[in-house]
Amino acid sequence: MDNKKEKKLWGGRFKQATEDLVEDFTASVHFDKRLFREDISGSKAHARMLARQGIITEEDAEAIVAGLDAILREIEEGKFQWKKTLEDVHMNIEQALIERIGDAGRRLHTARSRNDQIATDVRLYLKAEILDLDQCLHELQQGLVSQAERHIDIVMPGYTHLQRAQPILWSHHLLAYFEMFRRDRERLRDCLKRVDSCPLGSAALAGTGFPIDRDYTARELGFSRVSRNSLDAVSDRDFIIEFLAAASLVMAHLSRLSEELVLWSSQEFDFIELPDSFCTGSSIMPQKKNPDVPELVRGKTGRVYGHLMAALTLIKGLPMAYNRDLQEDKEILFDAVDTVNASVKIMAALVAKLKPKKEKMEQALCKGFLTATDFADYLVQKGVPFRTAHEIVGKAVAMCLHKGVELHELPISELKKLNPLIDEKLYALLTPEGSVESRRSKGGTASIMVKAAIEEAKEWLKSDGEPLDVH
Ligand code: ARG
Repeated sequence: MDNKKEKKLWGGRFKQATEDLVEDFTASVHFDKRLFREDISGSKAHARMLARQGIITEEDAEAIVAGLDAILREIEEGKFQWKKTLEDVHMNIEQALIERIGDAGRRLHTARSRNDQIATDVRLYLKAEILDLDQCLHELQQGLVSQAERHIDIVMPGYTHLQRAQPILWSHHLLAYFEMFRRDRERLRDCLKRVDSCPLGSAALAGTGFPIDRDYTARELGFSRVSRNSLDAVSDRDFIIEFLAAASLVMAHLSRLSEELVLWSSQEFDFIELPDSFCTGSSIMPQKKNPDVPELVRGKTGRVYGHLMAALTLIKGLPMAYNRDLQEDKEILFDAVDTVNASVKIMAALVAKLKPKKEKMEQALCKGFLTATDFADYLVQKGVPFRTAHEIVGKAVAMCLHKGVELHELPISELKKLNPLIDEKLYALLTPEGSVESRRSKGGTASIMVKAAIEEAKEWLKSDGEPLDVH
């Protein structure tokens, strides 16, 4: 065998050294080294369990744990030499351990396989990342509620089809996003229940003949339970797909919010001022202040959707149990985690600094007949069937369009021609405030309802919506 090559931990049956090309192609250490902490924790728990069960000696276990701790420090200090020839994070660490402590290190892999090892590492990693994301989303929600609370007096046009529809409170609009992120957090927490299952001890695929104690290792590692089927445990990646699906929805919601921030900060809308510190200029057009942050969040959404598709496709058609294809799960997962995390964080910071422009939003309420529905509802209260009322108000709008005026500018004499039941009281209902305040149905935009919604949201953030703690 080519003696310039690193000896493989699995090299016993091989007569030829691995081609460089193959080493390059199969190596994962350049990305899975990110799991070094989880890998070392898993190995320490495994070694302690082996000793407790009398499978290795206490002295060996102590040497292993001390050796792994020393390696951990080396990695954290940036002194550890990662070797592509050792393929992945597991064998890099195991080899370093053997070099340090000799035969005790060679005993660590008893009753274990890289197949259950990697499944355990990724689950440990994802558990921590979900908790972190939950915390970031909590901050974003807090920003939304405090904006809503601070600016409870702003009325703005609500839109459907991006056409002015009915007046709403700006706070009501912000709380719509609060609800989206509430569901996102609920989904992530639900996903966490299934991530929180320990595969360690499933070994390569069939379990092991050694008298291991899987419940002990699971407990040591902070898992709530052990997986039930060894084949499933080493080949299941649907927990990653669930996470990517939940992460995709987080991005979808961030992207909708981003789109609105881009629209609102345009001169055409001019509803908000984005802080200078969150915008960039143009290298050619001196007047420009571009909303790059929300644009990038919107743009990054596609990446996360792509990772979800990649992961779904990855497991489709895989026979039981572990297949090397599964190594492809990690780069997409890591990138999705980084992308959604960074996007939520920056959006939380941006939302906290948003400055709504009250007058501009109110100006926008002056045109577009936003209180037409209120007019129709008024007629309904006088006994006119809704469809008839709709028709009458439609005619009033046509009249306004013809004259170039708004509904409240039509004289009472003209209105009475449309329906003799109409009286002066109508005008009070045609104001944006009158319209907003009349909408007291559950979940509606009347200020009394929105204030209650703000209180509920604040309560939730302190109770069920409190960030999940690690322990
Ligand atoms: N690097 C591998 C992965 O990410 C670790 C498990 C390798 N197992 C194996 N039998 N080659 O999936």
